[in-house]
Amino acid sequence: MLVNKKRSLQYIFYIITALISLMLFSLASAEDAAKTTAPDASKTTVTDAASAPDAAKAVVQDDTNKEAQAALGKKLFGERCVVCHGANGNGKGPAGVIKVMEKSGRVLDIHPRDLTSGTFKFRTVSTGCLPLDEDLLRIITDGIAKSFMPDGKMLTLDERKALVTYVKTFSSRFGAEDPCKQIVAKMPRWVGSKNSVTKGEAIYKRMKCPDCHGNEGTGNGPKSNEIVDDWGNKIYPFNFRTGNLKRGSTPENVFLTFTSGLDGSGMPSYEDSLKEDERWNLVSFTLKLMNKTEYLK
Ligand code: HEC
Ligand code: HEC
Repeated sequence: MLVNKKRSLQYIFYIITALISLMLFSLASAEDAAKTTAPDASKTTVTDAASAPDAAKAVVQDDTNKEAQAALGKKLFGERCVVCHGANGNGKGPAGVIKVMEKSGRVLDIHPRDLTSGTFKFRTVSTGCLPLDEDLLRIITDGIAKSFMPDGKMLTLDERKALVTYVKTFSSRFGAEDPCKQIVAKMPRWVGSKNSVTKGEAIYKRMKCPDCHGNEGTGNGPKSNEIVDDWGNKIYPFNFRTGNLKRGSTPENVFLTFTSGLDGSGMPSYEDSLKEDERWNLVSFTLKLMNKTEYLK
């Protein structure tokens, strides 16, 4: 039994190593290819814009910028994202489904997102709303913990913005809907106090979080084995003892998760069912479950 587990762990380790080398290799070769072609292409556009008559110049430059940005987004997506998300953004890139075994022996399937569905998890807007540009920018900058989605810190701001623009081309929702109002997470000073943790624990029980996340927050509640996400894949509730949150681990991020919900994942929004103070008390309790002593008073 033990040996088997060790073997399968080794097996998973080999697969991941092979995948990472494959990714690095394709990134390197794509970068080489880009170096030889990119400068020429951008030179032509700049000269075109410069020779346009004065009045039309601003407009032409604007269009040229847009075109250049679209081309840059496409190129970067090809180099850094296609391996997982696929060339047409449907989440079926060559990396395929990544399997990870948890300490408990439970195997998680990690599916790169189908970006054509127009459903996004990590937003600062109400449930059902499209993410704002800055939400997508943040995801592309920070990456997603536990999902192997890498961060983009080596890219310039313009490059990351070009990726945001390109990602939005995969779903027609972006052209058709107006952006929603942003939710602002302003943490009250009492978050993390003993009183707030106690109140939060009562809310955690009352709102039936344990159905999915379990009484101790280890992700093993009675419903935890039956959740299927909007993309048809089995998904497990977060285990609060495993550290990093996908959205990021600050109290504000946790508050945003309760407020916006993680659309598509089964994790609901509590914006309508809990008052703002109640959501902050819940943050205090989850910080306790996660043992984030730096935030507890
Ligand atoms: C190693 C695989 C991998 C690579 C490379 C990768 N992603 Fe992802 N990405 C994922 C996975 C897995 C998810 C789904 C995470 C989840 O739902 O838990 C995801 C989700 C996303 C999301 C949805 C976030 C949300 O709020 O729901 C966006 C947008 C995204 N990726 C963009 C990109 C872009 C742009 C790139 C290239 C710069 C990229 N990804 C590279 C694996 C990857
Ligand atoms: C119907 C099941 C269900 C209920 C009820 C539920 N959750 Fe979740 N929750 C999930 C799932 C599934 C995920 C994992 C989402 C993912 O990995 O994309 C999750 C993720 C989370 C996360 C982690 C977000 C991140 O960034 O990684 C937190 C925090 C959380 N839930 C807190 C709560 C709290 C507190 C409650 C009660 C107010 C609650 N959940 C109720 C299913 C549920």
